[in-house]
Amino acid sequence: AAGGMASLGLGGCDRVGPTEATIRSRQFPKDFVWGVATAAFQTEGSPAADGRGPSIWDTFEKQPGRIKDGSNADVATDSYRRYAEDVDLIAGAGLKAFRFSIAWSRVLPTGAGTVNAAGLDHYERLVDACLAKGVTPYATLFHWDLPQALQDKGGWSARDTAKSFAEYAAAVAGRLGDRLKHVITLNEPAVHAVFGHVLGEQAPGLKDIALLGPTTHHMNLGQGLAIQALRAGGGDLRIGTTQALQPCRASGGPLAFWNRPAADGLDALWNRAWLDPLLKGTYPALMDEFLEGHVRDGDLKLIRQPIDFLGVNYYAPAYVKLDMASPSHIAVGSPPRGAELDAFGRQIDPSGLAEVLEMVRRDYGNPPVLITENGCSDAFGDGPAVIDDGFRCQYLRRHLEAVKSAMEAGSQVGGYFTWTLIDNWEWDIGYTAKFGLVAMDRATGVRTPKTSYGWFKGVATTGLLPP
Ligand code: NOJ
Repeated sequence: AAGGMASLGLGGCDRVGPTEATIRSRQFPKDFVWGVATAAFQTEGSPAADGRGPSIWDTFEKQPGRIKDGSNADVATDSYRRYAEDVDLIAGAGLKAFRFSIAWSRVLPTGAGTVNAAGLDHYERLVDACLAKGVTPYATLFHWDLPQALQDKGGWSARDTAKSFAEYAAAVAGRLGDRLKHVITLNEPAVHAVFGHVLGEQAPGLKDIALLGPTTHHMNLGQGLAIQALRAGGGDLRIGTTQALQPCRASGGPLAFWNRPAADGLDALWNRAWLDPLLKGTYPALMDEFLEGHVRDGDLKLIRQPIDFLGVNYYAPAYVKLDMASPSHIAVGSPPRGAELDAFGRQIDPSGLAEVLEMVRRDYGNPPVLITENGCSDAFGDGPAVIDDGFRCQYLRRHLEAVKSAMEAGSQVGGYFTWTLIDNWEWDIGYTAKFGLVAMDRATGVRTPKTSYGWFKGVATTGLLPP
């Protein structure tokens, strides 16, 4: 978090607002869902097992210089093989829900066409293992690992990928829909669009602002088509989407006024380009130029499908500034001087979570919400995990207070999934960021619960948030 505006000496007027929430009661409702979240590519390993096809992350991680520590996810937490142990850990923490993702290229190795039954067998075993332990499975269909064969045809910048996504969703529901009842279509599509297609920092590693509009629109469209396909299968699925919501604040100091439009621009492309079409049937006007030529008649109607819950992932607010050197002319700068940072350098600001929940309540008709991710990393680096992670308990406590205050103000939050169960592979920064309630010895795969595991268990089993 060094550098940026602060190092230019322009951060002097920043104010750091109160970050603690006031709550009336520390007791969460009885039916509140407590869980953990993971993703296939970050945990499974076994990239060639049972007919899995390559994904864009297999390609990307092997390109020199792409991954900070030079690592890859070929083993990760070995969860393709050790999933039963993972489920035991979840059940052992008294958690009643597990949000994992399905690897598209295990189900359809080339993204469309032939279904690989052996890939679905794995997820059937995982779902059955959850159900046997009283853990409700929540499956995310797209957590960034697009089949490489689809990328070769343009990936999400190609309209056809939206159709393939619906085909994949139907294959999953057709096989698992009798027992898997909670499905999340997309995970943080804004991150995939921006970091994968504009900034080139994540797979597929493209750096082209012209791709922002089409990838955004086609993911939205794919989501609409997938929801239709899932509903067409009958059954009683509860369907949601997971968005990375961030309050977009103008970077401070004397430039805050000029940075306001930049913050609004980020808000449009990061938050509202996903929420508006789904929940209001429109795109924010600030997206018009990016989208020009890509939105066809009827698309907006298709995208606006009823959902059963909105998944909210929250980590930190964004401080935005004008930056003519960036392709979008906006950039995310440093948090204000004096802001509280975690050991990883991300800002800790639970009020940002209350703020995005307020936005959802006020601007989007107060839909049912699940917090599908929230969590923090151990100190950034290659060192061993911090087993006595009191800082993580504090982080979770403070964010849960923000959730509770939003609920007391009227937000319909039905559950909270922390990121993540076991320290895993954090995309372009490899194994250097550890977000788990459980540590893992990478040489042996042995799992060791951290202090936060027991702390979270206490909260999940009583619904009572300790002070
Ligand atoms: C959000 C992403 O969905 C997840 O894959 C990632 O590991 C966490 N944030 C932590 O950065």
